[in-house]
Amino acid sequence: MAELSHRALRELIEIFGDCDEYFTEMISASALIGGGPFEQWYRDPGPCPERLVYQLVGSHPEQLAQAVRLLDAGECAGIDLNMGCAAPAIVRTGAGVRWMASVDRAGALIKLLRPLTARRLSVKLRIGMEDDFEYLVQFCTRLEAEGVQRIALHPRTAREKFKRQARWEYVSRLRAALHIPVAGNGDITDAPELVRRSQEGYDAIMVGRLALRAPWVFAQARQLENPDVPRPKLPPSVDLEELALRFLELLARYQPQEFHQSRAHRFFAYFCDNFTWATYLKNRLRRETGLSAMASCLSAYCRDHPEERNRLLTLSPGLA
Ligand SMILES: Cc1cc2nc3c(=O)[nH]c(=O)nc-3n(C[C@H](O)[C@H](O)[C@H](O)COP(=O)(O)O)c2cc1C
Repeated sequence: MAELSHRALRELIEIFGDCDEYFTEMISASALIGGGPFEQWYRDPGPCPERLVYQLVGSHPEQLAQAVRLLDAGECAGIDLNMGCAAPAIVRTGAGVRWMASVDRAGALIKLLRPLTARRLSVKLRIGMEDDFEYLVQFCTRLEAEGVQRIALHPRTAREKFKRQARWEYVSRLRAALHIPVAGNGDITDAPELVRRSQEGYDAIMVGRLALRAPWVFAQARQLENPDVPRPKLPPSVDLEELALRFLELLARYQPQEFHQSRAHRFFAYFCDNFTWATYLKNRLRRETGLSAMASCLSAYCRDHPEERNRLLTLSPGLA
């Protein structure tokens, strides 16, 4: 997720563990091959390169091809193509969900990229420009035929952005129509729901915004699924202030100074939902500019509301 799923977040989630795979934020193919000053940060595969999937965004096949070659040279679990982003600035350039407008254009892209890497090649997409399931199947069948090995579906149309509920039934229906695994994504709100969804038999589940609010959610879901297996990294409760301050330290260590403010603000837009006065706290934090000022602001809130600091992580299996 843009400005969110960088190394600092992965490090934060690894405190609790149990996330099977991480996807980077979308990396612009043209910026990557242009060797811009920030590319080393986008390419940082830590802390677990073997579980990291790089996601590329772009509209020019040749640039995407060069970017795939570059990423293939380092260690990673796979390379993913963004065919789902509906942000106007991305769609206007012919990238993101715009790829879904033409089966042939997308098919030709995969044909070009497939021989360039032996790693898992996947695509993340939405239902499409319109709510047309038959077209979605036709589109994905072509991707599969050209060598895509996995699809992650965020089952909303481009127009819907985040409106309506994600239509998870489309994930099962698409899976039934293809031979490759299909991951479902959208609107998972807590660990019990993540467990419920995984019990519905999807090949994989991708969690977006919740990972920011609850970096412990993966370990918590595993604990609910297998209450008898000890999870050494999952403490009985977490100190939210301590965790937020830890994130700011990780941000300082693993992101360039130019990114600190925007990325801290993005993170807090979700993490603050753990607190009763979330909107107030977000607004206060947005007014702060440096990381240490943000840390002081968060600590002041926790001093004023000490009862909100600790979040119980051990859930009863009955909840799943
Ligand atoms: C701020 C933000 C940035 C995002 N950036 C990306 C991105 O770079 N690549 C991508 O495939 N999806 C991106 N997404 C979409 C998410 O991956 C996911 O499909 C969507 O948030 C629904 O899942 P969720 O309900 O679990 O968050 C982004 C979403 C948000 C809110």
